[in-house]
Amino acid sequence: MTGFEQSKRLQSLPPYLFVRLEELTAIKKKEGWDLIDFGIGDPDLPTPEPIVEALREAAGVNDYQKYSSSQGERDLRVAVAEWYGRRYGLDIDPDTQVCITIGSKEAIFNIAQAFVNVGETIVAPSPGYPVYSGASALFNEAECVLVPLRAENGWLLDVDECPAGARMLYLNYPNNPTGATCDLEYLVKVQDWCRANGTILCYDNAYSEMCYDGYLAPSVLEAGPDAIEFGSFSKTFNMTGWRLGYAVGHPDLIAGLKKCKGQVDSGAPIFIQKAGIKALSMYGPEGEIPDAVRENMDEYARRRRILVDGLRGLGYDVAMPNGTFYVWFDCGMPSFEFTAKMVELGIVVTPGSGFGESADGYIRMTVTEPVERIREALARMERGSYR
Ligand SMILES: Cc1ncc(COP(=O)(O)O)c(C=O)c1O
Repeated sequence: MTGFEQSKRLQSLPPYLFVRLEELTAIKKKEGWDLIDFGIGDPDLPTPEPIVEALREAAGVNDYQKYSSSQGERDLRVAVAEWYGRRYGLDIDPDTQVCITIGSKEAIFNIAQAFVNVGETIVAPSPGYPVYSGASALFNEAECVLVPLRAENGWLLDVDECPAGARMLYLNYPNNPTGATCDLEYLVKVQDWCRANGTILCYDNAYSEMCYDGYLAPSVLEAGPDAIEFGSFSKTFNMTGWRLGYAVGHPDLIAGLKKCKGQVDSGAPIFIQKAGIKALSMYGPEGEIPDAVRENMDEYARRRRILVDGLRGLGYDVAMPNGTFYVWFDCGMPSFEFTAKMVELGIVVTPGSGFGESADGYIRMTVTEPVERIREALARMERGSYR
C-alpha cells in the first residue's frame, strides 16, 4: 500500500497527551476494574425531556430533514438574540450579530481561519482548552503566545502580560480547566486592552450557565460590543452529543465566521436547531433559570462540595469553584505521575499538563460521577498508597 504523509502543519501538532492515559485505563479495564471516571468533561445526566420531545417531533418533519444554512436557521438566531435580551439585557440583531454553530468548538477553530493571517499572533491562556493553542494557531501558521494563568491571580489572565498588537486573544470564564470565574469589571478591562491593541477578543462562554452559589457569569458583550462570544447548548442542557452552539458579537466578526463556515459546513441539522429553540424557551422572561437546568446544577453543586471536602480531608489545598463542573488542585507531584497512580486505584483524572505545561502539578476532576461513586473514589484514595 502507498504511504501518504500528513501536511507539515498537521505533523507539527503536539502529540495528544491523553493517548497515554487511554492506554493505561484500557489495561485496567481489561483487568476487570470498575473505573470511577472524573476524566472527561461530558455530563452524565440526560438532556431534559422537553428538549428530546421537541427533537422527536421535528425529526419527522420533511422540511426539517433538508440542508440548513451555515449561519443557522433564522428562528434559532432570533431565539438566541432574545435569550441574550432576557439573560444579559442586551439588544442583539439576529441577522448580523448571531451565527448558529455546530457546537462552540468549530467556531473557536473557524474564527481563527476567518481572521488570522500567516505569521500573526494568537494569544491563548495556559492552561486552556487545547483548541486555542493547537489547531487554531497551527492551521493558520500563526504564532501562538501562551500566557500563563496563575493561582495567585485567581487564574485570571493578566492582559498586561499579553504581547502588544496580537491579532487575536482567546479567553474563557467560567474556565476549563481551573473552574475560575470572572466579573464584568475584569471583562471591561480586557476589552479595553484589546481595543487599544487592535486585538480580536474571542470569548469562550461555553460554561456561562454552569454557575454556583448565586454567581451568574457575565457576557463579554455586556462589557462592550467589540468582541465575539461563543456559547453552547452542550453543558447547559447536557447536550454535548447534539453539537449545537452559537456565536454572538460584532457584526464584522460574525460576517467573517459565516463566510468561513459557508466553505466548511451546511449548518447544524434543522431538527436539532428546533430542539435548541425549545431549550432556550425554557428560560423565564427575566432570564430565570429553568428548573431542569437548576436541578442539574444543584446536583453538580452537591457532588462538587463532597469531592472538594473529601480532597481537603486528604490534605489537598482545593478551591471551591464558582463555575463549571471541574475541580482543580495542586497534587504535589508531576500531573502524569499522580494520574498514573490514580489509575492504579481505578480512578480516572485528567493531568493538568494536558492543558499546558505551566499547569504541570495540577489535576482536573469532573464531577460527572454520582455521589456514592465520588465517596468510593475518596475511600480508595484514603486506603491507597500513592503519595
Ligand atoms: C472551554 C471549552 N470551550 C468549548 C468547548 C466545546 O464545547 P462544544 O463544542 O460542545 O460546544 C469545551 C468542551 O469541553 C470547553 O471546555
